[in-house]
Amino acid sequence: MTPIITIDGPSGTGKGTLAVRLAHHLGWHCLDSGALYRVLGLAAGRRAIDLEDAAALAELAAQLGVTFVDGRVLLNGEDLGDAIRTETAGMAASRVAAHPAVRAALLDWQRRQARGPGLVADGRDMGTVVFPQAPLKVFLDASADERAARRYKQLIGKGLSANLADLAVDIRERDTRDRNRPVAPLRPAAGALMVDSTALSINDVFELILEEVRRVFPDQVP
Ligand code: DC
Repeated sequence: MTPIITIDGPSGTGKGTLAVRLAHHLGWHCLDSGALYRVLGLAAGRRAIDLEDAAALAELAAQLGVTFVDGRVLLNGEDLGDAIRTETAGMAASRVAAHPAVRAALLDWQRRQARGPGLVADGRDMGTVVFPQAPLKVFLDASADERAARRYKQLIGKGLSANLADLAVDIRERDTRDRNRPVAPLRPAAGALMVDSTALSINDVFELILEEVRRVFPDQVP
């Protein structure tokens, strides 16, 4: 069976960075499942599909021509660049992701990403729904204010404008929707390693998780 590590948690905890770093360190594949919902939100916008139209969104999800190449996300061959990384794209992703039919349509595609030598899967329901059999499940959290502050720094660092108060409101709104939706709500999987990164650096969290990877997959860590 393919070794799998799932990393779930709300946005702004550093999940994505950690998943990529861990996958790189281990030489494993990485699944950024949030990007999938972000691409779907963007594709829906381009086709003027209403983000509440579950049937149309599920149909689009079922034939979404998305590929991940070296950290880039392509839609039907087109590199989407940072277009899927904006706050607006995150909010659209959270809205399309709330529809059970959309989640069902993306399930097989996500499971097919589990390929040797291993997979690090990052998202909201990787450990609870998509890969419940994963031997190592991590739930990464941080306070909403700290997550907003990190996001603020990230946007300013990219030369983009940002407003801390607006970001905090967005983060809380997204959290509420992701945690309260009827299907695959954001919550820790049974047996998940709980990590609160509020007062930890990315390096601290990386080392902490790597320690656990060594314990669970003793033959895999270089
Ligand atoms: O991790 P992210 O910020 O890129 O995710 C964007 C949105 O996609 C998030 O608000 C909720 C949704 N999502 C989800 O419902 N399930 C996942 N496994 C990953 C993301």
